[in-house]
Amino acid sequence: MQRLTLIQPDDWHLHLRDGANMASIVAATARCFARAIVMPNLKPPITTVEQALAYRARIIATLPCDFNPLMTLYLTDNTPVAEISKLKENSDVMAVKYYPAGATTHSDSGVTDWHRVWGVLDAMQNHDIPLLIHGEVTDVNIDVFDREKVFIEKVLEPLLENFPSLRVVLEHITTQDAVEYIKTTKNNLYATITPHHLLMNRNDLFQGGIRPHHYCLPVLKREKHRQALLDAATSGNPKFFLGTDSAPHAVSAKETACGCAGIYSAPAALALYAEAFEQVQALDKLEGFASFYGADFYRLPRNTKTITLEKRAWEMPKYFEFGKEKVVPLRAGAEIYWVQN
Ligand code: NCD
Ligand code: ZN
Repeated sequence: MQRLTLIQPDDWHLHLRDGANMASIVAATARCFARAIVMPNLKPPITTVEQALAYRARIIATLPCDFNPLMTLYLTDNTPVAEISKLKENSDVMAVKYYPAGATTHSDSGVTDWHRVWGVLDAMQNHDIPLLIHGEVTDVNIDVFDREKVFIEKVLEPLLENFPSLRVVLEHITTQDAVEYIKTTKNNLYATITPHHLLMNRNDLFQGGIRPHHYCLPVLKREKHRQALLDAATSGNPKFFLGTDSAPHAVSAKETACGCAGIYSAPAALALYAEAFEQVQALDKLEGFASFYGADFYRLPRNTKTITLEKRAWEMPKYFEFGKEKVVPLRAGAEIYWVQN
């Protein structure tokens, strides 16, 4: 039996939702990951340190085991500069998330133009607080498959030119363009990569019919982009690290005329990464990507416990409870090839 033992990983991009929905999904992450960067796109969004700490307390109250949720603030056009110094004093709130207004689920309070948050970005640069970016333009005239590439050219480059020492994570990258830009830019620019963008391409949206549970943002891209992501994730370059973007939605919100974006990968996230790394014979690179580089970026100690994966197939349930509803996980009713002991 093939076994893989690694230092316990962390999830550097996670959606936990709130209330009963949160209570039904948080254990799926906590049984594998030691820490997670928790996204602030609740409705209403988490915009202050006080709200972030209250949200953190609600998460911890539902937990049966050790798990450290690290919080983020949702950047709006009106975020006061003073909030950034509060954040600096609070080590449980780690970063600020930039959603271009209208780019994705619950992003309507996001940033309409980055020049409007100049003062906040300046304070973040001075206080050395990471900026986490959903990197897609929202212009409806730009093809949905090009929105990440155009964001890099039109927004990210000028932003980084003006804030050269701001530490930035381009979240859930999906394109060869993003990989190339991150590899070659001199700035403090890093990226997270999801398991679904490593394992699927845009054909998976239309496999025998329309597949709402494969719809996420940024949307799945062509095979050449998947290959570039796989190369980046398995390269051992510490600029690329694990962030699942596990984003559960109730079945009723996915299987409908205008379905929500988001893929629920938490129940098998690490096994899915292992499968992707195995495709290119790079299982030896998984530990760095999953357990070291993200902690190093956030200047946190690496974990010390280990976990073990075994190569043994099991069937992913067709759905899980999600508050009063159900959520369909990635690979529902199909095989997962690795299992955590
Ligand atoms: C996320 C969600 O549902 O909150 N959806 C997604 O498709 N990734 C939001 C996000 O990270 O874009
Ligand atoms: Zn996300």
